[in-house]
Amino acid sequence: MAVITCIDDLKRLHRRRTPKMFYDYAESGSYTEQTFRDNTADFAHIRLRQKVAVDMSNRSTAATMVGEAVAMPVALAPVGLTGMQAADGEIKAARAAEAFGVPFTLSTMSICSIEDVAAHTTKPFWFQVYTLKDDDFMRRLLDRAKAAGCSALVITVDLQILGQRHKDLKNGLSAPPKLTARSVADMAMRWRWGLGMLGTKRRFFGNIVGHAKGVTDPSSLSSWTAEAFDLTLDWKRVAQLRAMWGGKVILKGLLDADDARTALAVGADAIVVSNHGGRQLDGALSSIRALPAIVDAVGDQIEVHMDSGIRSGQDVLKALAMGAKGTYIGRAFVHGLGAMGEAGVTKALEVIRKELDTSMALCGERNVSALGRHNLLVPKDFAGDWA
Ligand SMILES: Cc1cc2nc3c(=O)[nH]c(=O)nc-3n(C[C@H](O)[C@H](O)[C@H](O)COP(=O)(O)O)c2cc1C
Repeated sequence: MAVITCIDDLKRLHRRRTPKMFYDYAESGSYTEQTFRDNTADFAHIRLRQKVAVDMSNRSTAATMVGEAVAMPVALAPVGLTGMQAADGEIKAARAAEAFGVPFTLSTMSICSIEDVAAHTTKPFWFQVYTLKDDDFMRRLLDRAKAAGCSALVITVDLQILGQRHKDLKNGLSAPPKLTARSVADMAMRWRWGLGMLGTKRRFFGNIVGHAKGVTDPSSLSSWTAEAFDLTLDWKRVAQLRAMWGGKVILKGLLDADDARTALAVGADAIVVSNHGGRQLDGALSSIRALPAIVDAVGDQIEVHMDSGIRSGQDVLKALAMGAKGTYIGRAFVHGLGAMGEAGVTKALEVIRKELDTSMALCGERNVSALGRHNLLVPKDFAGDWA
């Protein structure tokens, strides 16, 4: 077994062990993938300020996110079709997150259902919803999440229509995969993945199939999205959903300071500065670039979280030092899952915590709560001089 030292090692194994259709689904952005690339490239423009001869004993990465204690402020982001990256993927990722002490967010578009994940974990997880036209289904979805003990609702506001990812169309993405000569040949090469899938019943969208009415092709992400997602979503509807849920609400997918002010007025408990990992509006700013303006606008009144582009503990450090109170990883844990199942997700979290902790120490800090812009060297033109 190769020695795993960084997320890139997991990514290489993920690529080797998972059918192309699902690896590509994870490792892509919309259209030209400019925003997808910027998300990681912009982190690299920020440098860290080294401090020496500072007591670095008794360090801690512990923090809170929406009032919940976390081992480090890094949650697992909602990722659709996680159960296609490895059999029972959502259960495996949720268990790894629980053991590590970080939040797991279950996507509406998961393979394992809310009830399934709850039955295989002991602590509350977070549930992410897309806003759907069918109000009755939406209510039942929220009731199911409540019954399962979910402790926060993440409402994703940046995907009423799907950003086009070329590879998914070319690969004919579906869950489960349609059996064509090409997909069968590809799956035959990934025997570990195939054995896992043969051994599980969980191969469809577990929250949808058998629960939603009038689904013409439940295996197709794009057709279901086009049919079911609510194009009329506006801030009034967001406020209604918040009332319908009645618990903690996190609004995910903001990039604009005015939108952040509106989210504040709606009464969210936190917002996530995110461009959906570069999968929605290609050409939008990277999240790390959008973050400072939003922190400056609302950071003293609401918890600001961020995701998109985090591939290391150093990226987490940079986001926290820029003012985020929490972060999420999407692909970084998916690479772990596709590479080595539950152990791979644990590995991804360990890698990130070690990088965060070591870099924090070398920056002269002992607690993540002490991180600030004083730890960073940010190029003068980083925010961009946009007209
Ligand atoms: C394969 C994949 C599927 C995703 N599915 C969802 C989803 O179902 N709901 C959602 O709110 N965000 C979804 N996202 C976005 C993630 O929650 C998160 O915003 C993104 O992955 C962060 O970027 P990163 O992958 O660079 O960490 C998905 C991302 C990926 C990569």
